[in-house]
Amino acid sequence: MADNSKDTTHFGFQTVAKDEKAGKVADVFHSVAAKYDLMNDLMSMGIHRIWKRFTIDCSGVRRGQRVLDLAGGTGDLTAKFSRLVGETGEVVLADINSSMLKMGREKLRNLGVAGNVSYVQANAEALPFPDNYFDCITISFGLRNVTDKDKALASMFRVLKPGGRLLVLEFSKPLLEPLSKVYDAYSFHILPRIGQLVANDAESYRYLAESIRMHPDQETLKQMMEDVGFENSTYYNLTGGIVALHRGYKF
Ligand SMILES: C[S@@+](CC[C@H](N)C(=O)[O-])C[C@H]1O[C@@H](n2cnc3c(N)ncnc32)[C@H](O)[C@@H]1O
Repeated sequence: MADNSKDTTHFGFQTVAKDEKAGKVADVFHSVAAKYDLMNDLMSMGIHRIWKRFTIDCSGVRRGQRVLDLAGGTGDLTAKFSRLVGETGEVVLADINSSMLKMGREKLRNLGVAGNVSYVQANAEALPFPDNYFDCITISFGLRNVTDKDKALASMFRVLKPGGRLLVLEFSKPLLEPLSKVYDAYSFHILPRIGQLVANDAESYRYLAESIRMHPDQETLKQMMEDVGFENSTYYNLTGGIVALHRGYKF
């Protein structure tokens, strides 16, 4: 029998052709963009704000630095980085999806975020920036959706300056079995219902739950980062491992 595994990937629990996944992910985020922030607060009971705060605290970003908020969506991290880097610094919010970028740009404008932010539509697998360009890159709840994660990590490594760091905030593997069970029940039964009620879209939130289960666990992601060249890589389990923050350096 022919081995098609090189040409296929996961879209949640489905196996799809690699060249189909980006289109399917695009449909999800075009559909949820308008309700994305509200859903984040509802689904996580506001806890995503604490995970993001922790990411900022671990970033070490200072005045004057250049930061890439990749798969930045509606710009929660960008808004915080914009204040941290000040007028002499620069933040690029990059996302593959025009609807998410539009929501991000409007939100940050309403928040009065300064002119040190630019917006770029880009695929994480092929970043349109020079080598050795950013002091820090974050990708928050984005890597899970990327078709070729190794290619994306290698692309991030290329555009980081020596001494720069990558922070990957992503769902991960809960540490305790009882927590896993409650979390499964919540994700597969309650999440799609909230999605249906608030965003009129149960399917996208079913994909969210499935894509979380298919994402590499803590140790696997750490190894993937090391395989493309990141050093001193570590991770922090947040909320019992439901989420993990990975950090690695380019030297
Ligand atoms: C769950 S949202 C996260 C948004 C934001 N970073 C946050 O933490 O709230 C995932 C984002 O990843 C973006 N995305 C998916 N695949 C991507 C890719 N290949 N390259 C860049 N962005 C991508 C989506 O368009 C979406 O805006």
